[in-house]
Amino acid sequence: MAQHATVPAVRTRKEGPPLVMITAYDAPGARIADEAGADIILVGDSVGMVVLGYDDTLHVTLDDMVHHVAAVARARPRALVVADLPWLTYHLGPYDAVRNAAALVRAGAQAVKLEGGAKRVPVVEALVDAEIPVMGHLGLTPQSLHVMGGYRVQGQQQEDARALVDGAAALAAAGCFALVLEGIPAEVARLVTQAIPVPTIGIGAGPDCDGQVLVFHDVLGLEDRVLPRFVRRYASLKADAVAAVAAFGADVRNRTFPTTQESYHLGDATAAALGITRSESRPA
Ligand code: KIV
Repeated sequence: MAQHATVPAVRTRKEGPPLVMITAYDAPGARIADEAGADIILVGDSVGMVVLGYDDTLHVTLDDMVHHVAAVARARPRALVVADLPWLTYHLGPYDAVRNAAALVRAGAQAVKLEGGAKRVPVVEALVDAEIPVMGHLGLTPQSLHVMGGYRVQGQQQEDARALVDGAAALAAAGCFALVLEGIPAEVARLVTQAIPVPTIGIGAGPDCDGQVLVFHDVLGLEDRVLPRFVRRYASLKADAVAAVAAFGADVRNRTFPTTQESYHLGDATAAALGITRSESRPA
């Protein structure tokens, strides 16, 4: 079995094969990601949208995240487990952020992720000071949905692109061990990647990041309602699942499930004592 992934090992992955990060929200998902060789499992607040049925990530609570991080951690993955700090768990100041991040660490996370640029520096420093490794997240930050006016590609103007490079440098200097770059032009992601000493992990940020991340349900086609440009679907599990459940339903309705082999049976003596003959497939 491969070695357990660690924060220091991820921090130095500017060279070599790109980092592979995928989200997972429960133990089976974590086992799938781990057996597939992912370097990092992100227990993302995307859980709100792909598992809990919300329209955005703003409804996800710290308790939701603790619940899902613990489920992932119980799979004891080899991959590094990073947990999202949900909205409003780090916006009220460093003290609050450290206390909330500690709940995720106690649930099994080895690091936390938070959204935002230079204005997050005091919070990142406080977390690092409390021995909690931090992954940053810049660009299209879903917790800023209403400020952005929708899920829109960020950093398209010169000034915004510069602000992303500066924000990334500030987060790296504050102690972030890696940064997610989401929904920005590939050229800007390349600039950021070249400007900072820690790895960038892209989603909708082009091929020049130091790693890539996608949402589990998108990769597997469990989510089939939308297909953003940056998603590559590697399976159609939603369609497979619907077909499988429909086949089960058909077998139940036409009484071909369960068969006698799929049923438990009485011993001969007990069956005889109850007046049941072996030829009776359905005892009265
Ligand atoms: O919550 C999440 O899944 C994320 C990824 C999209 C990076 O933050």
